[in-house]
Amino acid sequence: MDIKQKVENLQSEIEKFEISNKEQLESFRIKFIGSKGALKELFSELKNVPNELKKTAGNIINSLKQQTEELYSAKKEALEMAYEKKESLDFSRPGEPVEIGANHPISLVRSEIISIFERIGYTVSEGPEIEDDWHNFSALNFPPEHPARDMQDTFFVEQGRQEMALRTHTSSVQVRVMENSTPPIRTISPGRVYRNEAISARAHCFFHQVEGLYIDKDVSFADLKQTLLYFAKELFGEKAQIRLRPSYFPFTEPSAEVDVSCTICSGKGCNVCKYTGWLEILGCGMVDPNVLEACGIDSEEFTGFAFGMGIERIAQLKYRVNDLRLYSENDLRFLKQFKSAH
Ligand code: DAH
Repeated sequence: MDIKQKVENLQSEIEKFEISNKEQLESFRIKFIGSKGALKELFSELKNVPNELKKTAGNIINSLKQQTEELYSAKKEALEMAYEKKESLDFSRPGEPVEIGANHPISLVRSEIISIFERIGYTVSEGPEIEDDWHNFSALNFPPEHPARDMQDTFFVEQGRQEMALRTHTSSVQVRVMENSTPPIRTISPGRVYRNEAISARAHCFFHQVEGLYIDKDVSFADLKQTLLYFAKELFGEKAQIRLRPSYFPFTEPSAEVDVSCTICSGKGCNVCKYTGWLEILGCGMVDPNVLEACGIDSEEFTGFAFGMGIERIAQLKYRVNDLRLYSENDLRFLKQFKSAH
């Protein structure tokens, strides 16, 4: 094989050589450029080349040498750059944050109320949102045409041929529970309720309530007060106080409205409690004997208390939300603020 052929063979070998890491780069250098490499060997073969061809042969070997060295430096530089790039990745940096959702403030408060009552033995019960007259009104001692029905503006809907109502309160669930179980009964009923109201910051056509019911032998008003005091302290802190004001509900007798000492000024007086030191949180009373009888419970043997509160109202006090519309507008700027609360 003449020297020209050898140069061509070596050239194609050089071009095919794979260099994709530092080890391969070094093998390349040793094999072709190094002091015992293929190019050196070619040069040493020059002495066997006839004199008149020596110059041309020397030139082609030289130009291959140059090419090979250039290829080597180019590959070396590329590998170093890739390596530096890798080096510039800082693996100790925090990762990309993964967006996770937040619980809705109404869900947060509902869960908290449920867990407070579960700790003292209450179960959770639910009923339908489309209710008949009996469960929403009649069984709760609202006689037909009684003006107390106007206390709550009702949405009426047709279901089949029957006129139904969107429940105006979760008190309808206490009727269902009493009809379907025997005392002792200790239950709370969270749920959505509807009222035919113009929507504003202070009123909405739907909102959420939690109803409470306790029926047993010898249940007294003192039990009611103590239960509500426990609830207020669990929800608003050990310093919370309650006061009861006489009120009227058709389904309880006597009835009361309950205030909690202002959570903002601790009772000293501020603009949230309108300088009274107190905030209204719920209605309650001893279950009227007419209601017990209507639900098939002997009012001679059993007594009980009931209470009902608005979840939005409690959330408003806990989170200082002063516009009811925010709860149902799905504005992420509002909802995101409750992320850390859970
Ligand atoms: N149902 C009443 C309302 O929606 C709240 C209420 C008051 C519930 C007194 C009760 C109660 O169980 O005893 O305004």
